[in-house]
Amino acid sequence: MAIVRVGFIELWVQDLERSLEFYEGLLGFRLELKEGKSAYLRGYEELEWSLKLTQAERPAVRSLGFKVDGNGMEEAQAWALQEGLPHRLEADWGRPRVLRVQDPFGYPLAFYHEAEKLPRILQEYHLYRGPGVLRIDHLNLFCPEVAEATRYYQEHLGFRLTEYTEDDQGRLWASWLHRKGNVHDVAFTNGEGPRLHHFAYWLPDPMAILKAADILAGARRTDQIERGPGRHGISNALFLYLKDPDGHRIELYTSDYLTVDPDLPPVRWSLNDPRRQTLWGHRTPKSWFLEGSRVLGLEGKPLPTRPPALEGIPEHVT
Ligand SMILES: [Fe+2]
Repeated sequence: MAIVRVGFIELWVQDLERSLEFYEGLLGFRLELKEGKSAYLRGYEELEWSLKLTQAERPAVRSLGFKVDGNGMEEAQAWALQEGLPHRLEADWGRPRVLRVQDPFGYPLAFYHEAEKLPRILQEYHLYRGPGVLRIDHLNLFCPEVAEATRYYQEHLGFRLTEYTEDDQGRLWASWLHRKGNVHDVAFTNGEGPRLHHFAYWLPDPMAILKAADILAGARRTDQIERGPGRHGISNALFLYLKDPDGHRIELYTSDYLTVDPDLPPVRWSLNDPRRQTLWGHRTPKSWFLEGSRVLGLEGKPLPTRPPALEGIPEHVT
């Protein structure tokens, strides 16, 4: 199936105004529409909305969205039918056809092609607020069956592996998979799932990452900085992890590398190598390995989770 890239995420939040104060007010996302209990936001490079917040009784993840090419909707539907997966066609703002499919691991995927374009504001620099969030970059998913999901996403959805973490017994703990030509659109991390570990937005440069940290500090919101700023070993990117008012984890991310070569060899990391997570040697907080967001089934109920196949967290973690 011709997936082009990760396209959007829809989150359930408990207080829409409080969430908008965080995403629009502090991080500078562009609010494009507020309608009923939902708000639609985007980064400054995007021509389509990429973050939908919906007020609901509990925090959760409703959709993990992927843009597909012109044939992708029919291919996605054929795949869902062939695999016997729950699926449903819906419409959303500016998107007449969104195919929601619950994949075999429980993730609530949503595929769309047609999307109404918003005005181009990339060079309207006077409009920029916050650190200048540009575009959605990836989703990171807690998964109890990382090896199976990694294989499935490659064989059925056309993803390509760029990096992976393995223990001494050759067991896969985490994988990074892409469609769009950088390190990942989706990553799987060993853990209780299905859950969202985090979603990430691309920032223009490393200074923007520092600016985001300064903005949180200035607003006396350092309790929402969970990890970083730092540089990952895996992906080589600069990062900052924040928790939103509902505990959803967002990563601000920049400066990974090009992966378009079809014969690019994946990078192997040892589970025991502390450089894989933070190249500069900083330790990772325990919360980062354990906390995540529940995902919803197509009918809007939180899906039960399964314990991870691999037990324990790496010993260098504090
Ligand atoms: Fe990430």
